[in-house]
Amino acid sequence: MASQTLLLLPGDGIGTEIMVEVEKLIDWTNAEGLTDFSTDHGLVGGAAYDAHQVAVSEDDVEKARAADAVIFGAVGGPKWDNVPYEHRPEAALLRLRKELGVFANLRPAICYPALAEASSLKRELVEGLDILIVRELTGGVYFGEPKEITDLGDGQKRAIDTQVYETYEIDRIARVAFDLARTRSNKVHSADKKNVMKSGVLWDEVVRGVAKDYPDVAFEHILADNAAMQLVRNPKQFDVMVTDNLFGDILSDAAAMLTGSLGMLPSASLGAPDPATGKRKAFYEPVHGSAPDIAGKGIANPIAMIASFAMALRYSFNMIELADRVDAAIADVLADGLRTGDIAQDNRKTVGTEEMGAAILAKLKA
Ligand code: NAI
Ligand code: MG
Repeated sequence: MASQTLLLLPGDGIGTEIMVEVEKLIDWTNAEGLTDFSTDHGLVGGAAYDAHQVAVSEDDVEKARAADAVIFGAVGGPKWDNVPYEHRPEAALLRLRKELGVFANLRPAICYPALAEASSLKRELVEGLDILIVRELTGGVYFGEPKEITDLGDGQKRAIDTQVYETYEIDRIARVAFDLARTRSNKVHSADKKNVMKSGVLWDEVVRGVAKDYPDVAFEHILADNAAMQLVRNPKQFDVMVTDNLFGDILSDAAAMLTGSLGMLPSASLGAPDPATGKRKAFYEPVHGSAPDIAGKGIANPIAMIASFAMALRYSFNMIELADRVDAAIADVLADGLRTGDIAQDNRKTVGTEEMGAAILAKLKA
């Protein structure tokens, strides 16, 4: 097997603590001959600012471009609240996403049976839930021009954001969603607001066109506001949901919270396949931030980080069986009753970051 390169960017706060647990996992899969990863490390966020006075150095951007996959922890913290805006920790994330051209953000919402009680919904509505929200990440209203606030005089101002989508942007994200649906339950919902937005009309037109290339995948249109309602009414009706940047931001957060804690939620961001090699640039990270309130205490939940690594195995390296094993190991330790503080239930003993990581590794070895 040709050696594959991972760039590990732990970042700040709990980012460094949870990355350690992923490294132990990589050491084991390498030692077992299940993988042949060569890992490199870089600095991002406050850690990079302290070392180089930037949120990410050009060197590390170059390493990210060259890597087969980037595994990112989390950035930020009060220590860097007053650094110049362009060097704030979060700038590292935006820069890397842009440099890698990762336009497809995959946000799974999985409800482990052992955690169904932690959901804000009734057990029967969420138990066994497994949804994948595919959010367009590099276009739409967050980036469209004009984007400005103008002074109209007389104390009045006008703020403008512009939602812009072109055919190719919708086409490529739709194809990601339909391809993924084929590896799951073969169902795609596309959410937009075509009833009130021109960009929604084009979105729907293009997604319907792509759907014709996937006659084996069930396709349904849904208005984004109804999608929000249905997510809390009957979330299990969904498999893959594809939507734009803004609606995806909101719907993925809503879906995520059906499943319990921020410490459980992984994500992947994928770029376009290279025409020559078919490889996609890819960026894997937990949904949560650097959690300064618990950093340094050894109590952060490493599951979101480990599950992000499992997504890398699945989506960058096509190691489906190993990815399934990692996901099963997570489900198993939860079924055994192991809980970090963030997912603790009354009568159970809580464990720290290291103990949770070790328990997941032990399940893998078993
Ligand atoms: P946060 O996600 O860091 O924390 C929110 C709450 O969830 C905290 O109470 C935290 O202790 C808890 N939490 C998060 N992850 C956890 C885990 N793995 N295990 C146990 N508990 C966990 O969001 P917050 O507090 O709004 O932001 C903290 C810093 O992180 C800020 O500087 C923010 O800018 C940054 N941030 C970075 C992100 C990234 O790197 N992708 C994303 C979100 C925030
Ligand atoms: Mg969000």
